[in-house]
Amino acid sequence: MNHDLFKGAISKTKGALWEVEGLPKGEYDSQAVQYDKLISNGLYNRIMWGNWPSNYAEFCRQGLKSNTDGVIADIGCGTLGFTYKAYAEHLQKEIYFCDLSGEMLNIGKKRMEKLGADPSNVTFLRSDALNMPFKDNILQTVLSFGILHIFDNPTQLVQECVRILQPQGQLFLTSLCTERKLSAKYLNLLHKKGHVAKPLGALAIRNIVEERGVKIKTFEVKGGMAYVSGIKK
Ligand SMILES: C[S@@+](CC[C@H](N)C(=O)[O-])C[C@H]1O[C@@H](n2cnc3c(N)ncnc32)[C@H](O)[C@@H]1O
Repeated sequence: MNHDLFKGAISKTKGALWEVEGLPKGEYDSQAVQYDKLISNGLYNRIMWGNWPSNYAEFCRQGLKSNTDGVIADIGCGTLGFTYKAYAEHLQKEIYFCDLSGEMLNIGKKRMEKLGADPSNVTFLRSDALNMPFKDNILQTVLSFGILHIFDNPTQLVQECVRILQPQGQLFLTSLCTERKLSAKYLNLLHKKGHVAKPLGALAIRNIVEERGVKIKTFEVKGGMAYVSGIKK
């Protein structure tokens, strides 16, 4: 943990997570174990989202490989169900795993510890993706997988990711989108139940990223998931 990266106070919880003081509990706290089981299921991802978890892991690997020697943050990292093996290949790097849910972070933390993560390189930080505690222009790589579609104001998430990135820093972002019929139907159902925001098409997601000052490097749609990477101008 490097306190110089932060604009405000960060404190350590009893469970050895770090957190921004005064945050509300994460909505995912009560369903963390259940959620982790579901999303790690290959068949669920294949049927509902037209993706294999290996697609998500591969995109994460691209982000990690693009990082030379700067600091990395994963915003809304969840339980690291898809990504912990990719992260385990980069244990020497300084990585901040960020999520609002302490329960989700705890599952991810246990995974990384099992794989030998060094606590002096790896920090689990309970924080709000829409108001991150990092200073401006401070990180080399920001990763954010599968959370943009949660927010009614997705621009705010992208704006926050871009704010904390240094110029020429790299953004790797995925979001569920409406390109695949069955996924769009399910996404609309989740929206009606209040679990996700109004679903967006992949191009709209790409535009949000581009309009926030990111030069798009790669843009792909696989099934019901948009994959966007770019460099902060
Ligand atoms: C659909 S999960 C995705 C988790 C992970 N990135 C993945 O791909 O498996 C969404 C995550 O966003 C987190 N989340 C929701 N609202 C958040 C917020 N305002 N700030 C930070 N994390 C948030 C949830 O706790 C949850 O872990």
